Amino acid sequence: MKKKILFVCLGNICRSPAAEAVFKSIADKEKDITFIVDSAGTSGWHEGEPADSRMKQHAKKRGYNITSLSRPVIADDFKRFDYIVAMDLLNYTDLKKMSSKEYHHKIYLITDFTKNSNYKEGVPDPYYGGADGFEKVLDLLEVNTVKLIQFIKEER
Ligand code: 4NP
Repeated sequence: MKKKILFVCLGNICRSPAAEAVFKSIADKEKDITFIVDSAGTSGWHEGEPADSRMKQHAKKRGYNITSLSRPVIADDFKRFDYIVAMDLLNYTDLKKMSSKEYHHKIYLITDFTKNSNYKEGVPDPYYGGADGFEKVLDLLEVNTVKLIQFIKEER
C-alpha cells in the first residue's frame, strides 16, 4: 500500500520541510505502508531556497536531516496527494481557496489528529521569533506526525 502526503506552510522553509523530515523518519518504521512525502508553500516567496538554517540546525540536533528546496503548491498537488496537511489555520484556509471542492476532503490541519491538544490552530510560525519557537515546532511535529500515521492506518 502506498500513501502520498504533502505538508504545507507559508514559506516552505521552516515548518513544512521540518514536518517532511520528521514524518519520514517516524514513518520509516512502518513496514506495510510506503509513504511518498513532500512539502510546499502557499507562497512562492522562497522558491528554490533550502530550508531556513535555524530550522535545519534545531532539527539536526534531534537527528533529522532537512534537505528539501522550497516550492509553491501547484494545482496538480491536489490531484496527486492523498493527504494535504496544513501547518496552521491560515495555510488551511488558503489551501481550500486554492483548490476545487472535490479535493477539500484531502485537506487537514496538522493538529486535527491529536485530541486534547492546546494547539488547535496548528503549529505557530517560528520565522520572526527565537530558538524556543523552532524547538516548539519540532515538539509539536513529533507528537502530531505520530497521530497522523495512526489516523492513516485506521483509515485504510
Ligand atoms: P514557514 O515560515 O511558513 O514555516 O516556512 C515562514 C517563512 C518565511 C516567511 C514567513 C514564514 N516570510 O515571511 O518570508
